[in-house]
Amino acid sequence: MGGRCYCLKMLPWFVLVQIILGFAWGNTTTDLCERMCSCIEVEGVLHIDCERRGISDLQHYSAPTSRFYQLFLHGNSLSKLLPNEFANFYNAVTLHLENNGLHDIIPGAFLGLQLVKRLHINNNKIKGFRKNAFLGLDDLEYLQADFNLLRDIDPGAFRDLNELEVLILNDNLITSLPANLFQNVPITHLDLRGNRLKTLPYEGILELLPGIAEILLEDNPWDCTCNLLPLKEWLEHISHSALIGRVVCEAPMRLQGNDLNETSEFDLCPSQNENDLSLVAPPTQRPSGLPPTPAIQHPRPPTSASVHKGISKPRGNWQLRTRPSANAVIPNGNNIPLLLNGCPTTCSCSITSLESGLEVNCRGSKLESVADLQPKPFKAQELFLRQNNIGLIRKTHFLNYSSLTLLDLGNNAIKLIENNTFCNLTNLRWLYLDNNNLETLIPEMFAGLQNAEYLNLEFNLIQLILPGTFNWMPNLRELFLHNNLLKSLPVDVFSSVSLSKLSLHTNYFMYLPVTGVLDQLTSVVQIDLHGNPWDCSCNIIAFKQWVERMGSDVVVSELKCASPEEFWDRDFKSISNELMCPELYSKIHLTFSSSSNITISTETGTHVNPYLETSRVSISVLVPGLLLVFVTSAFTVVGMLVFILRNRKRSRKRDTNSSASEINSLQTVCDSYWHNGPYHAEGPHRVYDCVAHTLTD
Ligand SMILES: *[C@@H]1O[C@H](CO)[C@@H](O)[C@H](O)[C@H]1NC(C)=O
Ligand SMILES: *[C@@H]1O[C@H](CO)[C@@H](O)[C@H](O)[C@H]1NC(C)=O
Ligand SMILES: *[C@@H]1O[C@H](CO)[C@@H](O)[C@H](O)[C@H]1NC(C)=O
Ligand SMILES: *[C@@H]1O[C@H](CO)[C@@H](O)[C@H](O)[C@H]1NC(C)=O
Repeated sequence: MGGRCYCLKMLPWFVLVQIILGFAWGNTTTDLCERMCSCIEVEGVLHIDCERRGISDLQHYSAPTSRFYQLFLHGNSLSKLLPNEFANFYNAVTLHLENNGLHDIIPGAFLGLQLVKRLHINNNKIKGFRKNAFLGLDDLEYLQADFNLLRDIDPGAFRDLNELEVLILNDNLITSLPANLFQNVPITHLDLRGNRLKTLPYEGILELLPGIAEILLEDNPWDCTCNLLPLKEWLEHISHSALIGRVVCEAPMRLQGNDLNETSEFDLCPSQNENDLSLVAPPTQRPSGLPPTPAIQHPRPPTSASVHKGISKPRGNWQLRTRPSANAVIPNGNNIPLLLNGCPTTCSCSITSLESGLEVNCRGSKLESVADLQPKPFKAQELFLRQNNIGLIRKTHFLNYSSLTLLDLGNNAIKLIENNTFCNLTNLRWLYLDNNNLETLIPEMFAGLQNAEYLNLEFNLIQLILPGTFNWMPNLRELFLHNNLLKSLPVDVFSSVSLSKLSLHTNYFMYLPVTGVLDQLTSVVQIDLHGNPWDCSCNIIAFKQWVERMGSDVVVSELKCASPEEFWDRDFKSISNELMCPELYSKIHLTFSSSSNITISTETGTHVNPYLETSRVSISVLVPGLLLVFVTSAFTVVGMLVFILRNRKRSRKRDTNSSASEINSLQTVCDSYWHNGPYHAEGPHRVYDCVAHTLTD
């Protein structure tokens, strides 16, 4: 009896100890290759493909211990990386963690990953890098962290990365880099495009980049004052071709739009210049002892052409650009011939990344149709069809292009894109449709683009955007709609996307509603609205208040009134609300005066509001009547408000519910189609259409 009891009592302990031992020696981990993932060998390296397996932590998993491997974990749920997260994966050489909703990396998370050379944590929600965030990645050469929400970077964030050469930080929210961030980090390629940088100092930053071979700085709000002089001089001293793209001044006003290389020292620094230039001139000498050429030997020197896509027509405030910045490094080229066999005759092809991406360049090839591409470059990762004469895109044209991440159809004559054309382009991230003849945007046009982040529609003839147009693109971050013919936006148009950049300038908006449109831009960091004919009457007050709330960092550039005539060409932020809307102001004034006077007269009867001197006599007679009217109207207004709010809430709830569930089921259906084949497709008519059309053509 006693023995039995003892046994029963000991059982949980035994289990517990076994579990602990199991953790310590990896006994209870599941080999990813045995169950969950597909493991194939590609040129002597094992690829462990665990894309979208719903993995939320890695402590219970392991991988083959006798092999080196690349670990693909994108599209899982690794939202937080804890210390020793990868302890069972010490043979990884490449680590892909894109699209995990990752928001925090606890220092120590990468301990044990001594062999990893490339780390991809782009397209997550990381807001900051802590000190020693990358501890353990002793051999890391390549860090890709674009499209996050990075703002806070600790000065010691990269201090363990003593082999890091390529650092990709574009499209984040970085406002400044902390001093000494690059201490002992041998950076050769640095991508800082699309951030919020105003300046880069020499001391503590630029001086620590002696080996720079490529730097990308475009699309930051550069503040062209004395503070930027060090950057200008540094750029003039580094290797001729190192700067890719432009550095355009956003401030001060007189230099807005100017290229930094075309400003003079006097432009940047007018006042100090009068006194003594040498006081302002920063040290431009390299630290003594270092040769003027890159001090680091690059195992894989990049060609600047491989990054510089040279999209040719920068117009508007934000430049056109291409963003697959992952291609700064050239691959080892084993499979190049195989891929290049598929190059269409009128195009040129090159390999862009280690993951054997093929870049197909058919710019200006006089193509009339996408179908004319022969042979079809099905394995293409980036397809440039800019500057051709394509007028119509059929849904059959992009059937077999599911490997595309970038598609550039800009500067053609596209009038029509058939419904569900991009249904199978689930990997597409950048879509350029600028400088075409599109007139209407409908949801079906973008069906299936579930990973699209960048959509450029500038310089079209767009007059109408239908509700739900962007619902297919939950990952959309940057949307360019400037230079079109838009007068209004439908309600809830931004409800399914979290845009960080939105360009609506040079359209025909007279005002924009806040409720249901602007108030859905909860994550926007830059919105450009200039060049619209704003109607500076009472209508615009809510919009004006929204603009003021967002501040000039977010709402860039002036908003000029086109009407009424008295305010023509004035920035509406400089006009007071009461001047713009005297009716509203006088109403507020009246309500205020009558109510305050009533309080005064009922409470004391003697105090007199100085602003109400003239109406004193009549008020004293009318007090009871006014009181009655005021109380009655207050009740009525409150009652109506409650009624309206309740109704609206109910209807909005209904709308969002139905549309959200619709989208969900649409995506599920499409997913199951893509993963399991057409026979699994069931569900709403619309998707069946998408699939059916795709099949029948
Ligand atoms: C400045 O840079 C731009 C873009 O790289 C280039 O086109 C232009 O020629 C440069 N101007 C000067 C004066 O170097
Ligand atoms: C869609 O893409 C998948 C690969 O993701 C491919 O296997 C399939 O054949 C494509 N479907 C069509 C209709 O092109
Ligand atoms: C797409 O590829 C499949 C097989 O890979 C082929 O049978 C089909 O004809 C291709 N579709 C088009 C439109 O070329
Ligand atoms: C495309 O979809 C829209 C909306 O469902 C529909 O009204 C239109 O007729 C479709 N166009 C074609 C050519 O099927």
